[in-house]
Amino acid sequence: MLAQAVQAVLSREAIDVVASDRELDIGNAPDVTSFVEQHRPTHIVNCAAYTRVDDAEAEEAAATQVNGVGPENLAAVARIFELNLLHFSTDYVFAGDATEPYREDAAVSPQGAYGRSKLLGEQRVLSTLTGNGESGRTVQVVRTSWLFGDGGPNFVATMLGLMAEREVLKVVVDQVGRPTYTCDLAEAALGLAGLTRARPAAESGIFHVANAGETSWHGFASQILEQARALGFSLRTTTIHAIPSSEFPRPAARPPYSVLSTVKAEAALGRSFRPFSDAVHDYLQRKNRE
Ligand SMILES: NC(=O)c1ccc[n+]([C@@H]2O[C@H](COP(=O)([O-])OP(=O)(O)OC[C@H]3O[C@@H](n4cnc5c(N)ncnc54)[C@H](OP(=O)(O)O)[C@@H]3O)[C@@H](O)[C@H]2O)c1
Repeated sequence: MLAQAVQAVLSREAIDVVASDRELDIGNAPDVTSFVEQHRPTHIVNCAAYTRVDDAEAEEAAATQVNGVGPENLAAVARIFELNLLHFSTDYVFAGDATEPYREDAAVSPQGAYGRSKLLGEQRVLSTLTGNGESGRTVQVVRTSWLFGDGGPNFVATMLGLMAEREVLKVVVDQVGRPTYTCDLAEAALGLAGLTRARPAAESGIFHVANAGETSWHGFASQILEQARALGFSLRTTTIHAIPSSEFPRPAARPPYSVLSTVKAEAALGRSFRPFSDAVHDYLQRKNRE
């Protein structure tokens, strides 16, 4: 999902991209090295991940291989070949018991296997920062949350499908976060990496990027329904009940409050991030034209 948006921004910027999918397993160090030797990039943008949050509970080793060992392999090759590295992580590295938005230096405490595997990846990537000053290389970890966009299953697409079929929906109200459009994330993250014309690369380190505004999944679903109806989607849903997470048990615990503070990234980019409601509008308009 994110990789498609990243490619669209890089294509607009007329930057050559060698995009890989499963044919390059980032968990396989020798393959990663030969890929870099063959293509000699200046930057690595890692959008690959094991993202099935619930399955990760039973498959933690597999999740760790992709989300922990994979980024470590990319970081190692970036250090050897002096490449810039842009990597993505998640709000699920936090416990979700805070009362104000999480800053980049807030204490981490993942509640599930996916979050643990992503935290390991962050740590392995950031440990390559040593000696970064001399080479001028940048290594950035961009944490984001609640992604939606083209190219993969996501909450907005799932809701649209359900809303077309059912009159009544039940959606969880006791988890709060910041929905984020992949196009907006790609623009901001590539800006931080110095890959758009906007500005030079920001400093190395962790950045939080998310659309503005916070909501619950129930609030998000209500927003989607209202906007989709206004855009003329054919929908059957009339009522969305707010339910507690305990009524919708999942294998992996979710952080109740995973709102990211994006002050640092916005300062580095010199602009504010737009509200998620505007981004949802753009995404729905695109889907409406499909
Ligand atoms: N989605 C969200 O709500 C969300 C929220 C916060 C953070 N993030 C982070 O944002 C980033 C992008 O997420 P996304 O939702 O765009 O992910 P996605 O749509 O699931 O895409 C991940 C891609 O990585 C591929 N992949 C899996 N294992 C691989 C391996 N060993 N080597 C190479 N490729 C591999 C997957 O292939 P297959 O499809 O064949 O498995 C898939 O194409 C990830 O770092 C994710 O952790 C996502």
